[in-house]
Amino acid sequence: MSSINDKVSVRRDGEIGVILVDNPPVNALGHAVRDGMVKACAELAADPAIHAIVVACAGRTFFAGADITEFGKPRQEPWLQEAIERIEQCGKPTVAAIHGTALGGGFEVALGCTYRVMVERAQVGLPEIHLGLLAAGGGTKRLPRLIGPEATLKLCLSGERLSAARALELGVADHVGGEDPIAAGIAFARTIVGKPFVPVSEREDKLAAARADSAAFDALAAKLTARAAGQAAPHANVESVRDSFTLPFAEGMAKDARTIDALIAGSQSRALRHLFFAEREAARIPGQPADVQARRVRTAAVIGAGTMGGGIAMSFAGAGIPVTVVDTTQEALDRGLDRVRANYATSVKRGSMTQAAMDERLARISGATDRAAAAAADLVVEAVFEDMDVKREIFADLGASAAPGTILSSNTSALDVDAIAEVLERPEDFVGMHFFAPANVMKLVEVVRGARTSAETIATAMAAGRAIGKIPVVAGNCDGFIGNRMLARRSQEVERLLQRGATPRQIDEAAKAFGFPMGPLAIADMSGLDVGWFIRKRRGTPFPIADAICEKGWFGQKTGAGYYRYEAGAREGTDNPDVAALVAEVAGRLGIAQQRFDNDAMIERILFPLVNEGARILEEGIAYRASDIDVVWVNGYGWPRHGGGPMFWADEVGLAAIVARLDAFAADTPEDPSLRPAALLRTLAASGSSFAEWQQDRAKQG
Ligand code: COA
Repeated sequence: MSSINDKVSVRRDGEIGVILVDNPPVNALGHAVRDGMVKACAELAADPAIHAIVVACAGRTFFAGADITEFGKPRQEPWLQEAIERIEQCGKPTVAAIHGTALGGGFEVALGCTYRVMVERAQVGLPEIHLGLLAAGGGTKRLPRLIGPEATLKLCLSGERLSAARALELGVADHVGGEDPIAAGIAFARTIVGKPFVPVSEREDKLAAARADSAAFDALAAKLTARAAGQAAPHANVESVRDSFTLPFAEGMAKDARTIDALIAGSQSRALRHLFFAEREAARIPGQPADVQARRVRTAAVIGAGTMGGGIAMSFAGAGIPVTVVDTTQEALDRGLDRVRANYATSVKRGSMTQAAMDERLARISGATDRAAAAAADLVVEAVFEDMDVKREIFADLGASAAPGTILSSNTSALDVDAIAEVLERPEDFVGMHFFAPANVMKLVEVVRGARTSAETIATAMAAGRAIGKIPVVAGNCDGFIGNRMLARRSQEVERLLQRGATPRQIDEAAKAFGFPMGPLAIADMSGLDVGWFIRKRRGTPFPIADAICEKGWFGQKTGAGYYRYEAGAREGTDNPDVAALVAEVAGRLGIAQQRFDNDAMIERILFPLVNEGARILEEGIAYRASDIDVVWVNGYGWPRHGGGPMFWADEVGLAAIVARLDAFAADTPEDPSLRPAALLRTLAASGSSFAEWQQDRAKQG
C-alpha cells in the first residue's frame, strides 16, 4: 500500500488497483481527498499491470458528500466535477465499492465510476435539496443516464435514499452483496477485466423517451414543485435534470457549475446549511463533564392518554421502545388508545406504513389505569393538562413509587419545572420534556433543565429524544421556555395589529408569504381559542379582540367560528364579518386609530419583537446558542427551513435595522416595555455584529 497523501492511498491486488480514502468521520470530499483521488487514479491508470480500479472508503461510510464546510469559500482545483471526470475518463474500468451512505458528491463519485457494487446495508442518495443545492458534480446528468430523468427527479426533489436492493432493481447498482465493500469491489472488478465498457456519461438510451416527449417529465416536475413557490433549489433541480436530455452532457455540466455557485451564495442555501450544523450543535451541552453518560432508556411510560400523550407514546413505539400509557379511567385510556390506533390506520390507508409495522408498533404500546404501572419504566413522561397542582400530585406519587434511576419528565409547555420538582425527593432525576403537537410528527423536544436537574438526566433526556427521532434542544426554566416565550410576543403583536385594523386574513397571508405553513390566526382557530383565553385570565393579561371573540363563545374550528367562520367539518375558514364589527367596536371603545399595513410592515411588527425576546433569552442563558433558537423555531413552530430561523433571519435583515424599528414600536406603544430593544441586541447592532458572530466568539471563549 502506498500513500498519496494523508487521506488517500493506493493498493494493488493482482491486476486490480484500489484507491482507498480515509477521511473521518464521514469521508467528506474535501480538497485533499479530491486531489489525492485524482492522483491515485492517474497512477493506477498509468500502470500497465492494472486492468481495473476500485474506489473505496475506510471507516463507517463511503463518501457522505462534498465537504459542506468548503461551501462559500473559493473553489480549490480539482473541484468535484473535474475530479469525477478524471476518474471516469481514466481509460480503465472503475468500480465504486459502496458501504454506509453514499450521499451527494459521494454518490456522484460512484456515478462517475463505470460500475457500482453495494454491500447489503448500503444506501445512496442525492440530499443536496435539503441544503438548498443541486447535485452539480454530475448527479443530475449521470443518474438520468442510468434510471431515466423522471426517477432521477423524484430522488433529487425528495432527497430520499435508495437501499441497495432498490438501487439494484433500478439499475443504479450492478451488484449487491457481502459485508466487506473492498472485497466485494475487487471480486466484481475481476469479472469485468478485459470486457468493453462505456462511461456513464456516454450512455444515452435511458434519455430517449424524454427526448421524444417530455410531457411526463414536465407533469411530474409541476407536481413535485407545486408547494415550492419561492424556493430556489427545487426549481434549479428541475431545470438541471431537464438539461440532462435537452443539452449535450458537457454543456449541462458547465451550466450546473454556474447554477451551484449562485445557489451556494444565496440566502436560502446559507440558511439550510446553517441548520445542518445548528441541529448537530444543539446536541452538545456546554460545560458538560466528559464522563457524564446517558442512562439507557429501554422502556418508557406516558402519564395521560390525551392527544399529546398518545403522540408521545407513538414516538417511543416507532423507535422500538415499549411504552405504557397510563390514565385514570378505563374510558379515557380506551379513547386515547383508539386515537393512536386510528392515527396508525390512517398512515396504513395512505400507504406510508405497512399493516405489519402498525401491528408491531401497537404491540409495543400497553395501557394501564394504575400509575404503579409506570414505576418500572426507565423514562416517564407526564402529559396531562397544564395544572400545577395536578402535576405536583402526580410527581409526588411517581417520586415515591418509581425505581431508583428512573428519569421523571413533564411535558409542560410553560409551567415552572422547579416548582414541580419541589415535591420530589430526587429532583436531580427530573427534567422537562416539552413535545409539540402532533407529537408523533413534530421533531422538536425542548429539554427543560431545572435548577437541580443533574447533568446525567439532561444527557439521558437528550439521548432519548434523539433515539425516538426527535431534535432535542436544551432550554432553561422560565415562563414558556424558548419557543412559547417568543411565541407570546408574536401573539401580542398579532393582537395589536388586529386592533389597528389589519384583518385576520391579511395577517395570515403575510405570514404565509413569509413561508409559515399557516398563519397565526388560522392556527389559533385550529388549536382552540379558549386555551389562550384561560391562560390570559389567569395571568391578568387581557387581549381585547381575542377576549371579545371568546366571550361570544367562538373558540375556533370546534365551535364553527373564531377569527374565521367554518362550515360544518371544514378546516378552511371563510372571513368572519362579525370579527370586523367586533374590531371596530373594540377599537372605537379604546380610541385606537385604524391603519393600513402592507406585508412587510406586518412581518416586522410580529417578528422583530419575537427576535428581541430571543435576544433576551440569550442574555439570560435560557438558550445556550442563537442557533438553538433557530432549531426550535424551524422544528416546532413552522418557521420555513429555507429561512433559517429567527436569529439567522435577524442577522440577514441586519440588527441595526431591527433595533431602529423596535425603537419606533416602543415609542408608539409605550405601555409595553418589552418592545424596547434588548441590551444584547442593541450592543451587537451598535458594533455592526451579528448573533452568529456573538455565538462564534462565545464558543471560542469556551
Ligand atoms: N461535510 C462536512 N461535514 C460533514 C458532512 C459533510 N458532507 N457530513 C457530515 N459531516 C460532519 C457532521 O457535521 C458531523 O460533525 P460533528 O461530529 O463535528 O458534529 C460529523 O460529520 C458526523 O455527522 P453526523 O450527521 O453527526 O453523523 P450521522 O452518522 O448521524 O450521519 C450522515 C451521517 C452522512 C448521514 C449525515 O452526516 C449527513 O446526512 N451528512 C450530509 C450529507 C449530505 O448532505 N451530502 C451532500 C453534501 S452536498
